[in-house]
This record gives sequence, C-alpha cells and structure tokens, in this order.
Amino acid sequence: MNSTIIENRTPNVVSSNNDKKKVYIETYGCQMNFADSEVVLSILKNNDYQKCKNASDSDLILINTCSIREKAEGNIRKKLSSFKKLKKIKKVKIGVLGCMAERLKKKFLEEEKILDLVVGPDSYRDIPNLLKKVDKKEKAINVKLSKFETYQEIDPERIKSNNISAFVSITRGCDNMCTFCVVPFTRGRERSRDPKSILREIDLLCKRGFKEITLLGQNVDSYLWYGGGLKRDYSKATTLQKKTSLRFNNLLEIIAKAKPKMRIRFTTSNPQDMSDEVIDVISRYPNICKHIHLPVQSGSNKILKKMNRLHTREEYLILIDKIKTMIPNCSISHDIIAGFPSEDNQDHLDTLNLMETVKYDYGYMFKYSERPGTLAQKKFIDDVPLEIKNNRLKEIILKQSRHSYYRNQKFLNKTVCVLVERESKKSNDFWSGRTTQNTVVVFPKKNYSPGDFVDVRIENCTSATLIGDGLRISKDI
Ligand code: 5AD
Ligand code: SF4
Repeated sequence: MNSTIIENRTPNVVSSNNDKKKVYIETYGCQMNFADSEVVLSILKNNDYQKCKNASDSDLILINTCSIREKAEGNIRKKLSSFKKLKKIKKVKIGVLGCMAERLKKKFLEEEKILDLVVGPDSYRDIPNLLKKVDKKEKAINVKLSKFETYQEIDPERIKSNNISAFVSITRGCDNMCTFCVVPFTRGRERSRDPKSILREIDLLCKRGFKEITLLGQNVDSYLWYGGGLKRDYSKATTLQKKTSLRFNNLLEIIAKAKPKMRIRFTTSNPQDMSDEVIDVISRYPNICKHIHLPVQSGSNKILKKMNRLHTREEYLILIDKIKTMIPNCSISHDIIAGFPSEDNQDHLDTLNLMETVKYDYGYMFKYSERPGTLAQKKFIDDVPLEIKNNRLKEIILKQSRHSYYRNQKFLNKTVCVLVERESKKSNDFWSGRTTQNTVVVFPKKNYSPGDFVDVRIENCTSATLIGDGLRISKDI
C-alpha cells in the first residue's frame, strides 16, 4: 500500500437529532481507512443513524481496523476489551470493519466474544442488513471482496471535517504483492473508480468550500480507466481502448484544470508505476502540490528483490533525479522497513546510504513484523533479532530527523504559501497549516482564518515544523 499510517483514532462529532440511533466510530490505520469510515457513516446516516462522540452514548460501536503490522492489531484487541464493561451495562452492538475483519473473518467473531458484527472493506453497503441480523440476536459477517469499485456514488460523510481538506478515493486494492504486505489479501484486487464519479465528488467538495483534496489509493499511479468497463492489464488493451483510456496523469490533469483554486494532493505512489507524464503534470500545474510520497522500503537490491518490490535501488534513484530535475521544489517522503528477513549490516548500510543520497523531507519508518498469510511469513525466517531491528530502526529515524531539519532550514527567511487548517496544537494563539510541500507551518493568528491561503515568512524551524509570521493573504495556492 505504502499509504501513510496514522497511529491514532478519531472520535466523531455529535449531532442533535435524538430520535435517531447513535453510532460511534473509531478509525485506525491509513488514510484509506479514514476515507472508508466516511463512506460507512454516510451509509448509516441514510439508515437512521447519527454519529456521536462518546462510545458510552452510542447504540453501535464500530472500529475500523488496520492489519498492516502486528502492533496495530494488538492495539485494536486492547480497544475491544475496553468496551467489555460498557457492553455489560448497556445494549450496544459492537462491530469491526476493515483489514483485520477481512483477515480474520469468522475467527474474529469466535475469538472476540464481544463482537456482533464483522465487515470487510468491500461490504459496507451490507451493514444495514447485517444490523438487522444482529437485532435478531444473531452474529453477522460479510467479508466478500469485490472486483469493482464498490462505493462510487456514495457521498462520504466527512468525519474530521474542517471543511478545508478531504480525501477522495480513486483506486482500491493492490495487485503488487510485496512479500511483507497483507494489503493485497485484506483489500483485494486493484480497481479504479469511474472518473465521472471522482469529478462529481470533487465538484461537491468545491461547492462546499473545500480547498484541498487528497486523491487516495494504495497505488495511485496505476489508476486506469477504459471508457466502458474495467481492465487492469494495459498491455492487453486494444489500440482503441488504449486511445480512450485514462491514466493517472490524465486524471490529475483533468482535475487540476477543472478546479484551479483547489490544492490537489495524492498518495501513495509506487516507484515502478510512476510515469514521466505524472511528473510532468505535477510540474505544470501550480494547484498540484509539490510533494510525492515515494516509499522505497529498503536501499539494498538484495532485500528489494526479496520484498518483491518491482524496482531496484538504481531505478529508484533515477526516478528521484527525474523528480528533482523536473520539479526542483518538490518534497519527497518515504516508507522504510528495518530488519526484513535476511537483512544484514551491509543491507542496512545501503538503506542509510540511500537516505543520505536522497535526503528525504520526512518519512514513515517501521521495523519488520511478520504478517500471517504473506509470502514472507510463509517462505522466510524472521531472522533479524529484535534488538538489531530496534537499533537499525533507531539509526534510520535519527538520520531522517537530521535530514528533515536540513530540509526545513532551507525555508528560513523565505516566504511560503500556507493553507490554514486549524489551531496549532501547542498554542491557541497560532494557526497551523501546510505548504505545497506538505510541511507543517505555525504562525500567529492575527486576522487570518482557516481556509485562507497566507504568505508566511519563515523565521524558525524544528525538524517537524516551520515557524513564521503571516504577511498577507496569498495570491498563490
Ligand atoms: N512490517 C513492517 N512494516 C510494514 N509495512 C507494511 N507491511 C509491513 C510489515 N509486515 C509498512 C511499509 C508500507 C507501510 C504502509 O507499512 O513500509 O509502505
Ligand atoms: Fe503497498 Fe506493496 Fe502493500 Fe501494495 S503490496 S499496498 S504496493 S506495500
């Protein structure tokens, strides 16, 4: 997937209609999960539910789960047991959604007696029917995966909405089969969403005043849409199909042209699928943000091969060079795994050395954990001792934090355009927003408001944040 993991949870907001049943949803994992929770809330809203912000007030608790690493699953199990007391004193239905539901299927219901409902990522439309089953005191499950985009005409109920930025799904699933990754099993085959439905959703967001969208997919660069049906393998397409097909660069350009005042982001890119055309479109449109999340996972060709990553270190570095040449102000972030099976010290040094060459703006760093059902789990021995994994991860994190500081220092005494998103977590006298490079900026509130694009002069920085002063409303975005 390569998509960014957010290790937190988001309770939702209360609505005032008291006749309706109340649903509380917590979301774990990547942005895809957050986007899916919004789809689920929309489905439930049409079935007489309203969202609420406390589990103790709710009639239905849903946990949208992540399976990407062992630790994520452990956290979800802990969360479920924290609801045991509540279930004893209150009639509340408890369901799990998402990747862990898909991975464990019926076993999840057997292992966690507290559960009434288990729903996989492609079956959310079935939740109202499944709830009827639960009303009859039956346990309910649907974990069927689909070959088609399942939710395209649903208008997601924006959860954390500040009415400024929103996620828009454009592909689902992944066909890449990286040997460490559980996503192809939990989210199924890769499929692209009808561009008409994508544009309709973006149009709605624009009318509601949203200023930024993030196009989401496990592998956005392999977006592919043929006028009529769906087809994954471009090489097998007829000439006519090829002529009428829409690829990620085309989609980006259509959106960028249609919504010139909207900031456009996307994630996640896969090195082997990112085309020159995509880089070219990013460079040509000021409203396409100058940031690419480009997971590398390892700097060693031996490990990349074992991971079944379909790029080498050299190919990856050529791509980085191309990006830097065609979009000089582009920031680049990564995902890296430390301690994959058979990784020796030289492989680890190769990773550190690759980081040194790229000097990423930021990154997401993990130690390898074995995921059931993956090829790595079946075929390779998880043979890097925990202490060594931890040490390697520490070195990678340290290096990244130095590079992030180095990258941020380059903005000192420069003026950047910031989209104001919310109050700073550290001080309610400051706004927090992001630059086109996705760098967080905080600055005194003055007369500015969330949703404004502001020119901010940068005066100070840490490795994670730029600190500055707002000069004026920006002409840029
Ligand atoms: N162990 C550790 N990290 C993993 N990731 C995916 N699977 C595993 C695993 N088994 C990381 C990858 C991916 C990110 C979303 O999570 O770096 O890009
Ligand atoms: Fe990303 Fe690879 Fe997993 Fe697909 S299989 S989601 S590309 S890490």
